[in-house]
Amino acid sequence: MTDATKTAQITIGGKTQDLPIMKGTIGPEVVDIAKLYGESKVFTFDPGFNSTASCKSAITYIDGDQGILLYRGYPIEQLATEGDFLESCYLLYYGELPTPVQRKKFVHDITHHTMIHEQMVLFFRGFRRDAHPMAVMVAMVGALSAFYHDSTDISDPRQREIASHRMIAKLPTIAAMTYKYHIGQPFVYPQNHLSYAENFLHMCFAVPCEEYKVNPILAKAMDRIFTLHADHEQNASTSTVRLAGSSGANPFACIAAGIACLWGPAHGGANEAALKMLEEIGTVDKIPAFIEKVKDKSSNVRLMGFGHRVYKNYDPRAKILQASAHEVFEALGKQDDPLLDVARELERIALSDPYFIDRKLYPNVDFYSGIILRALGFPTSMFTVLFALARTVGWISQWKEMIEDPSQRIGRPRQLYIGPTQRDYVPIGKRS
Ligand code: CMC
Repeated sequence: MTDATKTAQITIGGKTQDLPIMKGTIGPEVVDIAKLYGESKVFTFDPGFNSTASCKSAITYIDGDQGILLYRGYPIEQLATEGDFLESCYLLYYGELPTPVQRKKFVHDITHHTMIHEQMVLFFRGFRRDAHPMAVMVAMVGALSAFYHDSTDISDPRQREIASHRMIAKLPTIAAMTYKYHIGQPFVYPQNHLSYAENFLHMCFAVPCEEYKVNPILAKAMDRIFTLHADHEQNASTSTVRLAGSSGANPFACIAAGIACLWGPAHGGANEAALKMLEEIGTVDKIPAFIEKVKDKSSNVRLMGFGHRVYKNYDPRAKILQASAHEVFEALGKQDDPLLDVARELERIALSDPYFIDRKLYPNVDFYSGIILRALGFPTSMFTVLFALARTVGWISQWKEMIEDPSQRIGRPRQLYIGPTQRDYVPIGKRS
């Protein structure tokens, strides 16, 4: 890992220190500054982690300039079109694609752990019906910690695996129950004869008074959305899960922390914000005025679903979803959806405007996912919930990798202190 032929030098106050250079299998080299403070008594400053690798990882690789996303080396395009979500789950978690026997067992294990403890059903009743579904998700996933005590000893590999399987299996059930509670319909229990995506759509859209048949094209689109969102290396929510887990915290609580972070509009909340934006624009003729507003910095308006910290090219997930949107609209017999027209035209105009070209702003995964989810029947308030459901496997794979890394230590960033220097306490009677 460390390239013995190369070092970086840093000179502080006339003293030069050699810093080892580390090389991964692909991607930029990394300067190892772990001993910098010990020897030179300085910290490094990198708010937002623009230039900082927080860990070693063998799970997901992104080349933001080329627009490449690999899960364990496999291109996302191949996994999303030739495989399915549970296969990607297995790949992310165990490191290799499953053999037929491994796949059968994994699918069986996940399928047979989809029910949640019946006592948890009572929790839902404590929420207002108009609570944001992400608020309910944070609480319900955190509450799993209180129910599955036999899988919370993180030093035991088997308990870690059971907790992970439980989360992959139960998140769709919790997400669907959250939706049903939100709209005032009865909960629909999981059905073991359905696939992962079919079961989820069934739990969301079936009602007890009539039969609900899942459209296979829509189930495929749902499954693809799950695959595309399954992992994305050290993004904000994944880093949150790793940081929470680094203290040895309960795995269910760590995933609840990830869900809380994902909720923000600059992260997972962007798909909700992108669709709201398309609805607000409404028609193609309003696009030029909207683009002008985005370019005017004083307006504080951003083109949601555009731009990415890492991708300075087309997000490969957005390309797959653009094609998927057409399939879904065709299956639903809705070729003329005005929002799809607005999205396509907005993308065309933005991609030819110097403001976006100069800043390398391209559509990201959230630009088309909202349109598809809306066509599938989900309200915008559920969009980030679906992201959380799909990302759970990425979070737990990253959490497991961290726990199993022998060099793992509690995450403890330092700071550049800019507050008052030491001063003496002033009794209240002497303060003016
Ligand atoms: N619309 C208009 N201008 C933008 C946008 C945008 N969506 N994104 C970035 N810019 C401008 C920004 O104003 C800045 O301009 P200038 O250099 O003149 O000050 C420049 O581009 C660089 O922006 P930045 O904020 O420094 O970039 P960042 O890497 O910190 O932010 C981002 C990345 C995703 C937060 C940002 O692009 C954004 O807010 N996008 C809209 C929200 C969105 O779609 N988020 C989903 C991200 S993908 C899903 C996920 O992984 O969670």
